[in-house]
Amino acid sequence: MSGTFTTSTARNIFYGGTLFFLLVFLALTFQNEQIIPKRDRREMLANPQIAEGKKLWETNNCIGCHTLLGEGAYFAPELGNVVVRLGSKEAVKAFIKGRPAEGIAGRRSMPQFNFSDKDLDAIADFLEYVSKIDAAKWPPNVQG
Ligand code: HEC
Repeated sequence: MSGTFTTSTARNIFYGGTLFFLLVFLALTFQNEQIIPKRDRREMLANPQIAEGKKLWETNNCIGCHTLLGEGAYFAPELGNVVVRLGSKEAVKAFIKGRPAEGIAGRRSMPQFNFSDKDLDAIADFLEYVSKIDAAKWPPNVQG
């Protein structure tokens, strides 16, 4: 046995394996670079209304409580598909607008942000944009 598995065999397996997985890595990186831009429809962010909604999303720290396509905090519901879950942008806006300022006793509640109607439109447009990103079927169901 020791005669057949020599040092040079071990070295060849090492170099061959390294090269093989390097090629797999490069191929997958290349494939990702092709697919991702088509999936996230980044060009939509050139729409000023959606960009404004994204800005409001970031500056109000929604992600401090919510997840968006799985990223964020697990305190409050996933919002990547909230437009689908609540049925319409109108329902999303009504939810955000209708939060009681004093919170809801005995349960986790969402703050009242006092957004203008213009801000609410922008947020709803941003959330609708997110719901249309092809995230490889994430979230797995409408409940998030
Ligand atoms: C302090 C934590 C907190 C922050 C910050 C927060 N939320 Fe929420 N949000 C919640 C909680 C908790 C719920 C679930 C409330 C409930 O069911 O009564 C919720 C629910 C929602 C829902 C309804 C989700 C559903 O499935 O019914 C929407 C839409 C929403 N939030 C949008 C936002 C947006 C947009 C922002 C940022 C502007 C934001 N939230 C910031 C805590 C937060």
